[in-house]
Amino acid sequence: MFRFLPEQASEIAPSVDWLNNVIMDISVFFTVAICGAMIYFAVRYRAKENRDHDTPRIHGSHLLEAIWTIVPTIIVIFVGYYGIVIFKELRAVPQDARTIMVTGKKWSWSFKYEENGKLVDNEAVIPVGEPIKFVLTSTDVLHSFFVPAMRVKSDAIPNRYTYVAFTPVKTGDYHIFCTEYCGTDHSAMRARLKVVPKADYARWLASDQRPSLPPAEWGKQLFGSVATGGKGCETCHSLDGTRRVGPTFLDLFGKEEPMEDGSVVKVDEDYIRTSILYPAKQIVATYPNAMTAFEGQITEDQIGALIAFMKTVTTENMKAQEAAAPAADEAAAPAQSADATPEERGKALYTSKTCVACHSLDGSRLVGPSFKGLYGKNGKLADGTAYTADDAYLTKSIKDPNSQVVEGYPAAMVIPPITDAEISDLVAYIKTVK
Ligand code: CUA
Repeated sequence: MFRFLPEQASEIAPSVDWLNNVIMDISVFFTVAICGAMIYFAVRYRAKENRDHDTPRIHGSHLLEAIWTIVPTIIVIFVGYYGIVIFKELRAVPQDARTIMVTGKKWSWSFKYEENGKLVDNEAVIPVGEPIKFVLTSTDVLHSFFVPAMRVKSDAIPNRYTYVAFTPVKTGDYHIFCTEYCGTDHSAMRARLKVVPKADYARWLASDQRPSLPPAEWGKQLFGSVATGGKGCETCHSLDGTRRVGPTFLDLFGKEEPMEDGSVVKVDEDYIRTSILYPAKQIVATYPNAMTAFEGQITEDQIGALIAFMKTVTTENMKAQEAAAPAADEAAAPAQSADATPEERGKALYTSKTCVACHSLDGSRLVGPSFKGLYGKNGKLADGTAYTADDAYLTKSIKDPNSQVVEGYPAAMVIPPITDAEISDLVAYIKTVK
């Protein structure tokens, strides 16, 4: 009787429940005994026939008083002792506990996994049979993190970490509640705790991993070079309006883009997603069909982050950034004075004419062949003829790039206006890249 506690899903739950039930039973026993006696005496000795009657004069009983002092004292000491013992057990955190950071905010819970930075909202997944530590905090007001099936509860407090720790003993879905009134949607501030087999947990944790960056910042990282964990978009897409192999990202989101087939497409999330996964499906007018399809090489989360980043690439934002970091470009601007050597001028042109976007200096493959060791190299063109990378070949490649496309590379080269003198400087520079 009087067993109202929910399912026991953690190691500590039976101990917590045992003490709770002891207290419940003692309370029920005394409630019934005291109220029962009260009611019995009220009825038994009620006024009869509207007449008072004499009662015996009792001076008290030392025995009774000793009993009702000593028995409750023993009971509260017993309950207090076990309360402390079990509470200590409840607060103990095993050395090897997995740590998950929990943030409460009006009105949801988010979980960040220390193991790899995975971040999820409103649904935490944990492995069965392993100790877990949830470290709690809040971004706004006081919340309280309560997992009834695990018998743990703690306040989540802004600017402070608190925690709950437990070891789940069975798989299943359990409720997480906010159990402290925190505003309008307090009652909707729930989350799910999924306890799964260890192998499932490992798979879940490894999947769909995202670092804990705001999407736009993460997108910026993805936009960057492969060497820094990006997808290398920057190779072909500028952020400042410069034309590279592909369209610039500047003010791209929301723009109406003319397509190769004559149609006009509005750049929205879905257009960008399709362009990343299946670029050949929609080629912007005047651009080559040169982009690598990222199908299978990018997650939905990463696409979302890239889109979030692209939305921030507006003239307004770029201007604000420039104002924040003044003249960095100018300082780095290479000497282009008349007394520079052809090699030096060529090196400056390599950057200013955006060769850098598609041709590496370190042998790595970008859109076009690397300049490293290029001069004097022999190879094959797409049409099967042989070539030697001499002055004439390089000059022609710059002047009329698609007349001689190297085997295995796209006919994607686009060049800004360039003079013959500049071409000869560039060729002189390419000779020096070994
Ligand atoms: Cu958060 Cu109630």
